[in-house]
Amino acid sequence: MSNNHSVSVVAIDGPSASGKSTVSKRVAQELKFTYVDSGSLYRGMTWKALRESVNIGQPEQVLDLMNRMKLEFYAENRVVLFTIDGEDPGLQLRSEPVRENVADIAAIPGVRAFLVARLQEMVRFGDIVMEGRDIGTVVFPESPFKYYLDADPEERARRRSLELKNMEGVGDVSKVLDSLTRRDKKDSTRKTAPLQIALGAKVINSTSMTIEEVVAQIVAEVRAALGT
Ligand code: C5P
Repeated sequence: MSNNHSVSVVAIDGPSASGKSTVSKRVAQELKFTYVDSGSLYRGMTWKALRESVNIGQPEQVLDLMNRMKLEFYAENRVVLFTIDGEDPGLQLRSEPVRENVADIAAIPGVRAFLVARLQEMVRFGDIVMEGRDIGTVVFPESPFKYYLDADPEERARRRSLELKNMEGVGDVSKVLDSLTRRDKKDSTRKTAPLQIALGAKVINSTSMTIEEVVAQIVAEVRAALGT
């Protein structure tokens, strides 16, 4: 890394429900790196804005809230977590209102500038695996370990609807596909840091791969490069 030569960063980007979270968590566990879910920060900002009844269509209101709130990070079992004004948003980050508004919050350039700076500071936790949409393009473009995880939209919708069924008891595949497609479109077409394949990133299409195979590939490549 340019800012800290002793720290390794594995950057894993990709669209919603591409398997990023499961893969990133397991890669981190196997490598004994700390796991950072950058999407949870954008979700946290969205949760806070909804809770404070901020008008998300008014970026200056969102930025004003962002500058007033206290965001604190800590690591637990090699996973980075955070509180906002002393509160841990926990599972509320996965709620429907957050899910449906997060892409609009994440499209605000001032929000991105602020959160990208916080994400770059995560190297203080040591070697990390960070998942998101712009980790290889914007947050850590100089990392030698950049991956872009993808899967066919239908497969992604199937996987996410299974997750939602487990969490919420419902998860209609066609509704999930609609919601994913809408969010992906916003994430890929926004002006600031759209979702795209980073220069030098390795693309892994996991449609017909198991999670274990994807994890094994990434872990083997990182270990080979680091000689560990
Ligand atoms: O990864 P997750 O689905 O939790 O991300 C939620 C949303 O946060 C994404 O749809 C995207 O709008 C935003 N995001 C982002 N940049 C990141 C991570 C997430 O814009 N690095």
